[in-house]
Amino acid sequence: ASRELSDSKLLLPGKSLYQALLDSVTLCNDSVKLQIVSEKNKVPLLVEIYAIDGNIFRLKINEISPLKSRYEVPDVLIKNLPLRGKLSIAQKETGILVLTCANEDCKLHITANPFQIELESKGETVLSVNTNGLLYFEHLQPPPQNRCDISYIPQCSVCDAENQEDLGLWQEEFGSFLDIKANGPSSIGLDFSLHGCEHVYGIPEHAETLLLKNTSDDDAYRLFNLDVYGHKIHDKMGIYGSVPFLLAHKPNRTSGIFWLNSSETVVEINTKAHVPSRSPPAITKQRVVPQTDVRWMSESGIIDVFLLMGPTPFDIFKQYAQLTGTQALPPLFSLGYHQCRWNYEDEQDVKTVDTGFDEHDIPYDVIWLDIEHTEGKRYFTWDKKKFQHPERMQELLKRKKRKLVVIIDPHIKVDPMYALYSQAKKKGYFVKNRKGQDFEGICWPGSSSYLDFTNPEVREWYADQFAFKSYKGSTDILFVWNDMNEPSVFKGAELTMQRDAVHHGNWEHREVHNLYGFYQQMATAEGLIKRSGGQKRPFVLTRSFFAGSQKYGAVWTGDNIAEWSYLKISIPMLLTISTAGISFCGADVGGFIGDPEPELLVRWYQAGAYQPFFRGHANIESKRREPWLFGDENTRIIREAIRERYTLLPYLYSLFYRAHTTAEPVMRPLWVEFPKEQETFGVEDEYMLGNALLVHPVIEQKATTVNVLLPGSDEVWYDFRRFRRLDYSGTLKIPVTLESIPVFQRGGSVVPLKTTVGRSTEWMTDISYELRVALDSKDFAVGELYLDDGHSFQYLHKKQFLHRKFTFHKNIFSSSCADEIGQYHTKCVVERVLILGVQKQPTSVTVSLQDGKDKEVVFTYDAKTSMLTLEKLLLNVGADWEIHIK
Ligand code: NOJ
Repeated sequence: ASRELSDSKLLLPGKSLYQALLDSVTLCNDSVKLQIVSEKNKVPLLVEIYAIDGNIFRLKINEISPLKSRYEVPDVLIKNLPLRGKLSIAQKETGILVLTCANEDCKLHITANPFQIELESKGETVLSVNTNGLLYFEHLQPPPQNRCDISYIPQCSVCDAENQEDLGLWQEEFGSFLDIKANGPSSIGLDFSLHGCEHVYGIPEHAETLLLKNTSDDDAYRLFNLDVYGHKIHDKMGIYGSVPFLLAHKPNRTSGIFWLNSSETVVEINTKAHVPSRSPPAITKQRVVPQTDVRWMSESGIIDVFLLMGPTPFDIFKQYAQLTGTQALPPLFSLGYHQCRWNYEDEQDVKTVDTGFDEHDIPYDVIWLDIEHTEGKRYFTWDKKKFQHPERMQELLKRKKRKLVVIIDPHIKVDPMYALYSQAKKKGYFVKNRKGQDFEGICWPGSSSYLDFTNPEVREWYADQFAFKSYKGSTDILFVWNDMNEPSVFKGAELTMQRDAVHHGNWEHREVHNLYGFYQQMATAEGLIKRSGGQKRPFVLTRSFFAGSQKYGAVWTGDNIAEWSYLKISIPMLLTISTAGISFCGADVGGFIGDPEPELLVRWYQAGAYQPFFRGHANIESKRREPWLFGDENTRIIREAIRERYTLLPYLYSLFYRAHTTAEPVMRPLWVEFPKEQETFGVEDEYMLGNALLVHPVIEQKATTVNVLLPGSDEVWYDFRRFRRLDYSGTLKIPVTLESIPVFQRGGSVVPLKTTVGRSTEWMTDISYELRVALDSKDFAVGELYLDDGHSFQYLHKKQFLHRKFTFHKNIFSSSCADEIGQYHTKCVVERVLILGVQKQPTSVTVSLQDGKDKEVVFTYDAKTSMLTLEKLLLNVGADWEIHIK
C-alpha cells in the first residue's frame, strides 16, 4: 500500500530507541513538556502532554527545531478545546515520572528508558504508548548532496549508487509518476497497547467487517482517500474517506485513539493473549489477558494523538465530539427519501419521475441531478438544451414541497471562457504543481484544475458562488452534492492528485490529502448558509470526508455494486462511519453499478428505510430503476418500506437531535447499547437505530428465515410491526417473507411515529402522532420527541423547539417537557397511543389535562398480543398530560 512508509516498517517491535530526558520536564499552565532523544540519530524531540476536559489526554511529539515547520492539521478540532486543570508531578525518581490530573483519578506513568507512557484510570492500566518501541520520527534533513533539481530523472548518470539510495527517500516513482518530496522523508509512527481489549472498531472508510481484523505485513488498514470505482469488499485499502479514530472495547471500558494527521496513514492491528509483566510468575496462568496493539504510521506531519478514556461507549462519543464537533442537525426534508440517478435527462424527465411518485403513492423529498445537467461539466451551469428553465423546474418541485440536489465537483474545466475558471485562475485559487503552475489533471470535463479549498480565501470565494445572484438558475430549494473530492484525478497516480502538488501556505498535497473533501464540504455548507442570510440549514452530501465532516452534512459510501454482498457490507460500513462521529450516512440503495434483480432492490429499500441517509442511485449504464418499474407486487413492497420510513421520521429526527446535542450515533452497533454482553461485540448484520429499535435487514437472497440476536437477559423485545412480545432473549429464528423488515422494539422505550404519511416531509407537518410504548419487565417505559420548524436555525438562536418526554410508570403514561428552554407552537396532536406488554385488560382509561379536567378514553385491548390501543386522543403534542390506566 504505502511506499513512503516502507522505511519505518523496517522497524520491528523491540526496545525503543527513544529515551526521555526527565531533567527536561517542565510544567506549564496547560501541559507538561519534556524532551526525548533517539539513541541512533540523537535528534531531540519535544513531547507535550495535555489533559483535556472530559477524560482526554493529548500527546504531541515534534522536532524541537525542524529545518522547516511541519504540518499540523488545522480546522478539524473545534476551537478552544477545554483544557482541564493542571497536570502535576506525583512522583519523580530515577527513570520514572508520574503525573496526576486534578480532580480525576488518572495517572500517567512516564518511563525514561525506553521512553514509554502508561495511562492509568482508577487503578487500571488502560493504555500504554510505545510499548513495542515503534516510535518513529523521520526528522527533516537537508537534501543529499548532488540532489539533482526537480527535473531529475531516475537513471541520472551523475548520481552514484549511494546517492541513488539516498535520493530514493527524496523521490519515488509510481508507475510513470515521479513524486519529488520537497522536504524529503518525514514519516512518523507510534504504537499503543490497549490492555484487556480484543475488540477494536473504527478507522473508516473500508469495505470491511465492523470488528477490525489483525493485519499482516502487507495488509494494514490504509487511510488514504481514493476514488475506487466498484471497490472490492473485505479490503483494507483506503477508499473515499478517512477518519483516523479507533475505538477499543471490553466489558467494563471503552477507550479511543484519535490520530490527528491528514497525510497517508496506515494502521496495523495485532490482538494477542498477553501476560501482564507485573504479575508474579506463579499466577501467570490465570493472568493471561487479551491485548490489542495498534500501530499508526503517517507519511508526514507530526504526532498529535488524543487518548480518550471513556469509560462508557457514550462517553467516548462525547469525548470525540468535544474534539471534532457533533453531527449538524439536518433539515427534515433530507431525512426523507432521495431519488437519484446518473442522470435524469432533462426537465421533462424530472417532471415525469416526480409525477411517478405521486401516481404510485410513494412519498419522496428530493430529486437529484448528476453531472450531465451542466454545460459540459462546468459546475454551477445548466445544459442549455436539457435544462432550459431550471428555475421553472424548481418552482414546480417547490409547489410539490420537494427539493432538488445538484452535483458540484471540485475540479474546474480548463476553459478561459468559463467564468468560474478564469476568475479562479486570475486569483491564483488553484492547487499548483511543483513547478508553481496551476496543477492540471483529467476529470469529467477533460483537462481540469482543482480549487485549493485549504485556503480560507478560496473557501470564502467558493461559498459566495452559491449566492442566488451568482449561481444562475438556482433557487432556495436547491441543495448540493460534492463528489470526486478525494480528489479524483483520472490518469493520476492511484487516480488522485500528485503528492508533490502545492497548496496554500506552500504545503505539499501529501500533507493535506485526506482533508481535501472535508474542506470542500465545509465551503459548500457555508455557501448554502450564507445564501440564506444565515437562516437556513444546509444540506451537503460528500463522498470524501475526514474527522469532523459531521459538522457539514452527510456522507455516502460511494460506488458500490448491485450485488448481495454489497448490501451486506453496507451495514458494517455505515456502523463504522457512525461510530466515527458521522451519523448522517448511507449507501446507494440498489447498488450503484449494475442492475439489481428485483428481490435485491426490494431488500435494499427495506434496509435503507432504516438507515440514516436514504437515497436510491444508479450508474449511467444501469437500467432505469424508479421504484415502480419492477411489477405491482414489488412496487407495493417498496412503497411500504418508503412509507414506513416516513412514519418513522419523528423518531429519526429526534435521534438526529440527540446526535447533534449529545453526540449519540443515530445508527449504532449492538455492543454500544449492550456493552457488557460479549455476544454482541462482533454483530454486524443487525444494529440499533437509537436505543429503542433493533433492525435486522434481510440481506440474503431468497431468505425464508433470519437469525436475530435479541440481546440482554433481562430485556423484553417486541415485534415492531406485529406488536408481539418475544419472551426470549438470545438468537431467534424469525420467519420472513419478501415483505418483512425484521425490526424489534426494546421494552422500556417509547417511539414517536406519524399516524400516516404525506407526499413529502413538508406535507406531513400537521399529521398527528402515534406513540409506541413498549413496556419492560418492570412495566416501565421512557422516550422522547424533538420537533422544530425543520429547516431553520431558530431552534438554536431563538430556542424555537419542543423537546418532550414520555414516561410510562405505575400505570400512568405522561407527557412532560424535557427542556424548558425550548418553545415552539404547534397544533399537532398525539392521536394514538399503543402500549405493548400490558398484562391484563384495564377497566378504565382516563386522561387528565393541564386544566385539571379528566376525560374517558376509548380503548381496545388485545389479549393475544397484550397490546392496549388508545385512539382518538387529540392531545396536543406540546402539552403536559397524563393517561391513567386502571
Ligand atoms: C461518481 C459517484 O460516486 C457517482 O455517485 C456519480 O454518479 C458519478 N461519479 C457521476 O457523477
